[in-house]
Amino acid sequence: MLTREDNETLTRIGQGTPMGDVIRRYWMPALLSSELPEPDCPPVRVKLLGEELVAFRDTQNRVGLLSEFCPHRLTSMFFGRNEEGGLRCVYHGWKFDVSGNCMDMMNEPPHSDYPSKIKITSYPVVEMGGVIWAYLGPVEKQPPYPKFEWTQVPESHRLVTKVWQECNWLQALEGGIDTAHAPILHRRISETTTRPGISINTSLVRGEPPKVEVDRTDYGYRYAGIRDVGDKGNLIRGYHYVMPFHQLRPLQFGLQGQEPRQLIAGHVWVPMDDENCMIYNWVYNYAGQPLTDADREEEVQLGRGPGEMLADFRTRRNKSNDWMIDREVQKNETFTGIEGINTQDQAIQESMGPIVDRTLENLSASDIAIVVARRMLISAASTVADGGDPPGIGESYYRVRAIDAILSKDVDWKDALEADMYPY
Ligand code: FES
Ligand SMILES: [Fe+2]
Repeated sequence: MLTREDNETLTRIGQGTPMGDVIRRYWMPALLSSELPEPDCPPVRVKLLGEELVAFRDTQNRVGLLSEFCPHRLTSMFFGRNEEGGLRCVYHGWKFDVSGNCMDMMNEPPHSDYPSKIKITSYPVVEMGGVIWAYLGPVEKQPPYPKFEWTQVPESHRLVTKVWQECNWLQALEGGIDTAHAPILHRRISETTTRPGISINTSLVRGEPPKVEVDRTDYGYRYAGIRDVGDKGNLIRGYHYVMPFHQLRPLQFGLQGQEPRQLIAGHVWVPMDDENCMIYNWVYNYAGQPLTDADREEEVQLGRGPGEMLADFRTRRNKSNDWMIDREVQKNETFTGIEGINTQDQAIQESMGPIVDRTLENLSASDIAIVVARRMLISAASTVADGGDPPGIGESYYRVRAIDAILSKDVDWKDALEADMYPY
């Protein structure tokens, strides 16, 4: 349970809010590289931290992220013409380059120096891991690039997708870092069903609920769900939370009782505004292999099923249709009756309302990872308000990996996580 004041601090991310100031200190995904497929392609609207922006790729393949509204009379630049090194407003022809400089004004005399006096707000971007990342913070505080291992492997070794979720970023993040819910919410209840879900024959579902341990680090924390699986030892699912909104989770064992694979997955929960977030889902092979077609298909199949994503990254199953819950399926095949693991997460997170009222909660011991994340975020808000740096803006998270393993009971999971750090 939180005070109303803390809940406000954690969830409000507009300009000048304490948490908005924290998140502005990190690189954040703005859009997928594939949304700007080639030089001079159509611009795309982007919403980040309550700001309406427009992204475009210029003739030299440079990406610009500008305010959506033209500084002349505030027309939307989304309708602009992307031509010869700049984006031109169609109302009176003011044209801007990727750095926000005004290159030309069609309603001014040819030798006017007015263009040199006008700029449109623009933010630095970097393309990495199939994602265009933006930095919206103070120029002098720009952190090193987001070189997670998943952003550094070749494109063939990685899959990144995104989905628009209609709720506050923090309740989506809290759903993701909550390891205890997975074998409950996502379980299958039949041995024969082929619907996406966690097989009832896995030790994840069969064993006791996990003990959750959290170990703070300078980038956030690492944490593990520890399940006693008898003589074989402990089943460890070791994760990382990287400030302010990243999670790395293990995927080696898969969820449906497959052969172990060398995959790690994760999410980034990016606030669009107080009541909407864009979730980036990534998965990659950490052992130097390309993802197989089966790996890729399975991601889509398990996550949402084909045909689920609409053109604007919203989903066909949504709040207005109760995520198409099927009560017969809920009775006989899966715990929820909602199709797709990611859709199940989305449904329960959105069902709490746009911003959940955390003054009404009754937390339990398995919520410890969520409690620590909140504490770290609240403390980062006061650090930044006092002029300091939040945790995780350095490079210490570059080498971390999530693991899935059965370890003998005398092995410390933290050592195992350490051993699996990405060697570079
Ligand atoms: S409003 Fe854009 S050029 Fe006039
Ligand atoms: Fe989940």
